[in-house]
Amino acid sequence: MNDPESLSTRLLAWYDRHARVMPWRVSPQDRAAGIRPDPYRVWLSEVMLQQTTVAAVRDYFHRFTARWPTVTALAAAPDAEVMGEWAGLGYYARARNLLKCARTVVADHGGSFPESREGLLTLPGIGPYTASAIAAIAYDEPATVVDGNVERVISRLHLIETPLPAAKPELTALAARLTPALRPGDYAQAIMDLGATICTPRSPACGICPWVDNCLARAEGVAAELPRKSPKPEKPTRRGTLWLGHREGAILLERRPDKGLLGGMLGIPGDGWDGQGGAAPAEADWQAVGEVRHTFTHFHLILTVLAARLDGPPLRGEMIPRHDFRPADLPTVMRKAWDLARAELTPPPGV
Ligand code: ADE
Repeated sequence: MNDPESLSTRLLAWYDRHARVMPWRVSPQDRAAGIRPDPYRVWLSEVMLQQTTVAAVRDYFHRFTARWPTVTALAAAPDAEVMGEWAGLGYYARARNLLKCARTVVADHGGSFPESREGLLTLPGIGPYTASAIAAIAYDEPATVVDGNVERVISRLHLIETPLPAAKPELTALAARLTPALRPGDYAQAIMDLGATICTPRSPACGICPWVDNCLARAEGVAAELPRKSPKPEKPTRRGTLWLGHREGAILLERRPDKGLLGGMLGIPGDGWDGQGGAAPAEADWQAVGEVRHTFTHFHLILTVLAARLDGPPLRGEMIPRHDFRPADLPTVMRKAWDLARAELTPPPGV
């Protein structure tokens, strides 16, 4: 009842009935019928899912795979187009690594992903989590997948009171003991689904959990309190400026350097808030439009947005015709500044 085999069997039986439908997923019924997941789609979805929720990833995933249906197609895509489609997902180093990985798969592996966790780990941007997830889901290797959902499930099942992140090695070892040799790909997805739909952070639905009778935290009445977490250090707040220069029919934008925050993304010229320095990109009568706020992984950012009509040529950046400019190509913080300027200025910039 409490042995690993009985636990995984029960979880898989639950998954057979309740697996979530996802555009990159092969259902347990189709998998049993011999249909295998496409490693490209598994890889792409896992990289995207490290950014945000399943609900938010769906649209990005559909757009990416419609435009680039194979890893070979993605590898051949111009950087700027991929960065544009990634805009809004955040953490743009991941998009650059995505391209680097696709190009390595094509250049060094003939366009097919390596078929083992060890081989996958050699690719750029693929760390232990992603390698395990692809190896398990795409190739049915009994690799142990440990994301935040799995940490929560395991810490409750075994009543682990050690706070995260110190508890990680112990949780990983316990998770590994449960990973079955049969159907490890379905199992990996099942335990993540369990964490996402039943063993949820605040109010777990223990009454319908396939592991309710084995869960030590449930028995002690502390399921909703686990996993414990060490307090995170406070994020500092940085301040800076964005200069939104415009002229009839055009907007001043610049491609950011590949290295550093929002690297490789299209942006509104800014100052040194990212440590890169920079003065106004043109002599003009700059007027304050307002402020935008955005939180990155390690700091909060408050940006003052200035706008001006530009008469002369800019000192840096490029005047992009309004009809060539897709606001959706901007990273979220820049998009906020654009939306603010459009709401506040009459006529709106570029008109
Ligand atoms: N979260 C990240 N990857 C997932 C997957 N393959 N299934 C369910 N949840 C996930």
